[in-house]
Amino acid sequence: MKAAVLKAFGSPLVVETVPDPVLGSGEVLIDVVATRVLSYAGEVFSGQRKYQLDLPVVPGPGAIGRVREIGPDATRLVPGDWVFCDPTVRSRDDARSPDITLQGWSAGGEGGLRLQKYFRDGSFAERMRVPTENVTRIGAIDAADAPMWCGLGTLLVPYGGLLAVDLKAGETVLVNGATGTFGSAGVAVALAMGAACVVATGRNATVLAEVARRFGPRVRTVQMLGDEEGDRQQILQVAPGPIDCVLDLLPPMASPAQVRTAVLAVRPYGRVVLMGGVGMAGGAGLELPYSWMMRDCITVRGQWMYPRDAAARMVGLIRAGLLSLDTREVTTFSLDAVNDAVAHAAAHAGPFTMTVLRP
Ligand SMILES: NC(=O)c1ccc[n+]([C@@H]2O[C@H](COP(=O)([O-])OP(=O)(O)OC[C@H]3O[C@@H](n4cnc5c(N)ncnc54)[C@H](OP(=O)(O)O)[C@@H]3O)[C@@H](O)[C@H]2O)c1
Repeated sequence: MKAAVLKAFGSPLVVETVPDPVLGSGEVLIDVVATRVLSYAGEVFSGQRKYQLDLPVVPGPGAIGRVREIGPDATRLVPGDWVFCDPTVRSRDDARSPDITLQGWSAGGEGGLRLQKYFRDGSFAERMRVPTENVTRIGAIDAADAPMWCGLGTLLVPYGGLLAVDLKAGETVLVNGATGTFGSAGVAVALAMGAACVVATGRNATVLAEVARRFGPRVRTVQMLGDEEGDRQQILQVAPGPIDCVLDLLPPMASPAQVRTAVLAVRPYGRVVLMGGVGMAGGAGLELPYSWMMRDCITVRGQWMYPRDAAARMVGLIRAGLLSLDTREVTTFSLDAVNDAVAHAAAHAGPFTMTVLRP
């Protein structure tokens, strides 16, 4: 089959013929129809992000595709099913603290790297082999809509965070970094989950205005000016009441102070989830006040990706019309043009656009 291969950090992807993946039990083979190219893919492939990725590898996190072949232990899937492939592969030999590797993308720690030795190759290929539990049926779709359905992978990330803080209908949530790809998806998902108000932050006033225009009166935007105390006062002033939970999705380039601005705005007994990349490139720690967390009974947690059943529930939100996939301008590339796709994704980062490969 044809695949794009990353042979060394800093070198372009090479499109070539590689051996077809071989099916084992507990796995399914997928014909990849569409797969997202994230805006920071180039930073991963250059090595700048320092993601743990054993080379050579076929990169690509997740896909929309069709089941080609099922293992002997699949009970519901049938060849031809349209599915979402979740890149979040968890080890199966420790139910309480499974190691995680994002197939074709990055590993968490030593255990994740061991898992990546086997579930390594991702979706920038005509076919991929995935654990059976990572496949979710999305129902019948028109093949032309497969690129649009790639938006599911974007929506699922903030959904994982909002599930982690147990966002309830009627609550106020602060999304820090709401002008970004995942942050703007977080605004959409919070509204779909019934948030009474979403306070959306970002530095870019033009994009904030677009977020406000698209999402309507339940969203209140705040432009971040880089003054921790002043920015937090702005947040507290626009919020209609106490902020019940905070979802942070800032990238590695952002400072801990930018995160603290949002985190310390949460109400007593509030919940905070950290999902961004802050600190991954090194630098100072978050330094949250111990006594504030203790006296105000604050919950702060991290979240990488989302639980296994989230994809099916997200499909439910979309099928019910509570969430729209049709909000992004999608640009598609063939597998042969993968390096152009990576460059395009970087040049068009941000909300409401998506770069997709069609292997
Ligand atoms: N936990 C997970 O499961 C998970 C999964 C996927 C991705 N992520 C993380 O999510 C992060 C965000 O990804 P994304 O694709 O949404 O990024 P993005 O589109 O580039 O958005 C970044 C957001 O951060 C804001 N920002 C604030 N300070 C910034 C700074 N100093 N430099 C750049 N942007 C800054 C940007 O808007 P303004 O310019 O308006 O401030 C924007 O809102 C990634 O870096 C990744 O680490 C986490």
